[in-house]
Amino acid sequence: GTTLASAAAESGRYFGTAVAANKLSDSTYVGILNREFDMVTAENEMKMDATEPNRGQFTYTNADRIVNHARNQGKRVRGHALAWHSQQPGWMQSMEGSALRQAMLNHVTQVATYYRGKIYAWDVVNEAFADGSTGARRDSNLQRTGNDWIEAAFRAARAADPDAKLCYNDYNTDNWSHAKTQAVYRMVQDFKSRGVPIDCVGFQAHFNSGNPVPSNYHTTLQNFANLGVDVQITELDIEGSGSTQAQQYQGVVQACLAVSRCTGITVWGIRDSDSWRASGTPLLFDSSGNKKAAYTSVLNALNAA
Ligand code: G3I
Repeated sequence: GTTLASAAAESGRYFGTAVAANKLSDSTYVGILNREFDMVTAENEMKMDATEPNRGQFTYTNADRIVNHARNQGKRVRGHALAWHSQQPGWMQSMEGSALRQAMLNHVTQVATYYRGKIYAWDVVNEAFADGSTGARRDSNLQRTGNDWIEAAFRAARAADPDAKLCYNDYNTDNWSHAKTQAVYRMVQDFKSRGVPIDCVGFQAHFNSGNPVPSNYHTTLQNFANLGVDVQITELDIEGSGSTQAQQYQGVVQACLAVSRCTGITVWGIRDSDSWRASGTPLLFDSSGNKKAAYTSVLNALNAA
């Protein structure tokens, strides 16, 4: 393949990117998007604060711009994210208890129903575990509604959009030896054993010097896949530059390619200047839209599969 998407497609995988609606008028950005990627994630436009800014009033204008652009171009869409402790609208941030639980489930139901049949995979719940050595759930208003809030969200999503894959998505879950990774693994194992509807686990894969690509990444992805779920790399970016960065990208791609149930890779933006990171050069295209060494190493790794 001569593009990321066509190279990934040769092994039945997708290659995606996060997209921001306000960049769809940038011709350089759109040119790269249309050429290189076959999966799209809305960077912010499908989040709870964007889609339900006032309680019970749903707005899909910006999300639809992204979904329609993707579908008109023959690309698929990952839905991000139905339930999350962060990026909640103000009205939800101040809620608690059973009222919050009902509001969260209504949000999941409404958004998943609106997009029914159009989403490849939903990040149903995002970032529900704490960092550090405890393996505990992250404290949040949603967690305080009861430990079963995650499975309740998955059941609501399945009822609303039965053909979409339903994912749990998190960061710092790449290293198999970390407590957070083990805790997510045990949750997925428990969900599978009890019939809670979960189809996939997303690994955000935001890497930097303090959180490098682990040498056991393949082990992590394979162990999760062995639970009977697909795995996906959902928000990949790697701080750095040059051949060091290119080698790290290669390692991530090779880890996915080595796991048959690793169905695709999404990078979290197109050009370095599109990255959520305030400074740095973590993506595959430079700020002018030129291919970086990391791009070439990813393309070559995909083509070697
Ligand atoms: O659009 C407004 C603008 O009008 C306003 O003037 C400006 C002032 O702060 O804010 C702009 O919104 C910002 C938005 O990005 C668009 O740029 C928000 O403040 C800012 O919080 C938001 O950041 C996003 C962040 O999620 C929010 O949690 C990043 O773009 C987005 O890349 C990032 O993505 C997350 C994933 O969803 C989950 N995993 C981690 C990943 C990286 O943090």
